[in-house]
Amino acid sequence: MNILLTGGAGYIGSHTTVLLMQAGLHVCVLDNFCNSEQIVLERIARITGKPPSFVEADVCNTSVVADALKRYEVQAVIHFAGLKAVGGSVTQPINYYANNVQGTISLLQAMQSSGVKTLVFSSSATVYGNPQYLPIDESHPTSATNPYGRTKLHIEEMLTDVSRSDPAWRIACLRYFNPVGAHESGLIGENPRGVPNNLMPLVAQVASGLRPYVQVFGNDYSTSDGTGVRDYIHVMDLAEGHLAALQYLQKNVGWHGFNLGTGKGRSVLEMIRAFESASGQAVPFKVVPRRVGDVAACYAKANKACELLGWSAKRDLASMCESTWNFRINAKEQ
Ligand code: NAD
Ligand code: UD1
Repeated sequence: MNILLTGGAGYIGSHTTVLLMQAGLHVCVLDNFCNSEQIVLERIARITGKPPSFVEADVCNTSVVADALKRYEVQAVIHFAGLKAVGGSVTQPINYYANNVQGTISLLQAMQSSGVKTLVFSSSATVYGNPQYLPIDESHPTSATNPYGRTKLHIEEMLTDVSRSDPAWRIACLRYFNPVGAHESGLIGENPRGVPNNLMPLVAQVASGLRPYVQVFGNDYSTSDGTGVRDYIHVMDLAEGHLAALQYLQKNVGWHGFNLGTGKGRSVLEMIRAFESASGQAVPFKVVPRRVGDVAACYAKANKACELLGWSAKRDLASMCESTWNFRINAKEQ
């Protein structure tokens, strides 16, 4: 089977590329490197023994995407390409709508003109807005609290309309909770530019001495230890979720939304402690006021993916922390 991965050089895309190649699928990565680097493709080749096919392009360039679909005889697309910083989306909403929403429209036009009607889309738990109940199942009402979240919601709604318009489409929206961790080789992982926005890359940088301490955003939430609770999921489990979704779409038409999470909530302090024992390093922290827009707790009900996709997260918290640390050490040495 031939698969196009837009944004396949990025954090989640690169891990999924490795997994799909090792499962015997032919992968073509399409990326413009706006948030990744060419070296990732070499690292993928070191892990898998050969590089994926590659097209350097912006997903907004419909004719180039259509050419790639035809040239590589693509049967299904996984659409990772998108901008993902919540803060950036508040200050630059036009960029976010242009890249995420317009990018998806462009991809859909290319797919339609090429007769490719199978799509797995990188959605996010952000489409649930502020949780109204926990754990969050797929029937939880959707809403958005920032422009990034609104792009994901708009795209999901567009994809629902596309599926309604033509029953031949097969679409899975995978709503990721909090992806963390890295490939066991230590060659690929999350490598954010500048100061990381997310907890785990920051914890890893503090453990390695790059930054003095983690700012813990609030310890007065109504959670077990007062700090924020999230559903952290190993990126390789997430990658496996994409393979399971592709297999599901072979047998099922229509639009389908799935949570990809572990179903387990972990607090910020739990994550820091787990990282300390995985790395053997101290992770100093200071409690500071809550971050605007944060919620106390957010975790998935992951039963639907288990029942329909036959997928569930298998890797534990220690593995998430150890692989993050392994990648951090490797990245420093190379
Ligand atoms: P990432 O930034 O590491 O990867 C995205 C990749 O897409 C990068 O390689 C980037 O260069 C590429 N890209 C962006 N815009 C493009 C364009 N217009 N044309 C071609 N390539 C483009 O991000 P990630 O963490 O791997 O996330 C992948 C997807 O999953 C995104 O859509 C993101 O919104 C979604 N998601 C991520 C998280 C998370 O915490 N990482 C959570 C929920 C959803
Ligand atoms: C954030 C985004 C969310 C996005 C998700 C994907 C916000 C408000 N939300 O979610 O839209 O889908 O990333 O990765 O940005 N924390 C600290 N100190 C830090 C960083 C984080 O204490 O320096 C805490 C947060 O308060 C939260 C937890 O760690 O309780 C996780 O934070 P983060 O990694 O940013 O993820 P989310 O807030 O869940």
